[in-house]
Amino acid sequence: MSAAALTARNIDLSFGGIRVLRNLDLEFRPGEITGLIGPNGAGKTSLFNCLTGAYRPQQGAIALGGRSLSGLPPAARAAHGVVRSFQTVALCPDLTVVENVMMGLARNHRAGWLNAFLPLPRGRRERAAMRTAALAALAEFGLADAADRSPAQLPPGNQRLVEIARAIVGRPTVLLLDEPAAGLNNSETRDLTRALQRLASPDLVMVVVEHDMDLVMTLCDRIYVLNFGEFVACGTPRDVRENPDVVRIYLGSDDD
Ligand SMILES: Nc1ncnc2c1ncn2[C@@H]1O[C@H](COP(=O)(O)OP(=O)(O)OP(=O)(O)O)[C@@H](O)[C@H]1O
Ligand SMILES: [Mg+2]
Repeated sequence: MSAAALTARNIDLSFGGIRVLRNLDLEFRPGEITGLIGPNGAGKTSLFNCLTGAYRPQQGAIALGGRSLSGLPPAARAAHGVVRSFQTVALCPDLTVVENVMMGLARNHRAGWLNAFLPLPRGRRERAAMRTAALAALAEFGLADAADRSPAQLPPGNQRLVEIARAIVGRPTVLLLDEPAAGLNNSETRDLTRALQRLASPDLVMVVVEHDMDLVMTLCDRIYVLNFGEFVACGTPRDVRENPDVVRIYLGSDDD
């Protein structure tokens, strides 16, 4: 079985008559880390919202391995393995760090998942297995020691890594990361880069929205560039860096 590409065809999204995404045609391939870059307001997060089902584009089709996801709500897409992290950290403050990561296993465990939080023998076994998996995901980011703390006790950079651990713990088929390095210091960003490189696999579609160009250029195999909801360019980091349209957007030059 070959792994599945995530495709977005002719996507158009508007709010109150303002077109936020304009006829976008993108393909995210398994085995690749794809970057999605563009200035503030380019539509990167909106595109993620269309891919996860949080937004419903007025036009266009989204498919995974040729199977349409278009009509499916976010939970059903998550059941297909489409998971994301958020631009603004979204951890549950009443759960410990490891419990937050365990929430990422909900789609794998369905029935067992509720049991795991009940004080029954079967629930205890389930919970122990989930905890083990969550600790392993935290260890990927050097955070196993923080497992039983409250998220608020961690520095913001580490909270973001916890969120990414929650996204990967269930072994997604599509991983959408919205500004994973925001709020991270240099050494945390290096750890993140290495962890994402280790995570890359022939079966995983990974898409990274990021403003940190060093990270994007180091990590990504292919990069899409958007501006005002429109496609600008797609190519290797080198292609994109040398593309005059991209250079113009990023340097804000108006002398053409
Ligand atoms: N729910 C919404 N209602 C109205 N407008 C929205 C909504 N979501 C996004 N937009 C608009 O869509 C445009 C693109 O926003 P989006 O958040 O997708 O950009 P972005 O590329 O993620 O930017 P940033 O790099 O700042 O995160 C913006 O003009 C934004 O105001
Ligand atoms: Mg955004």
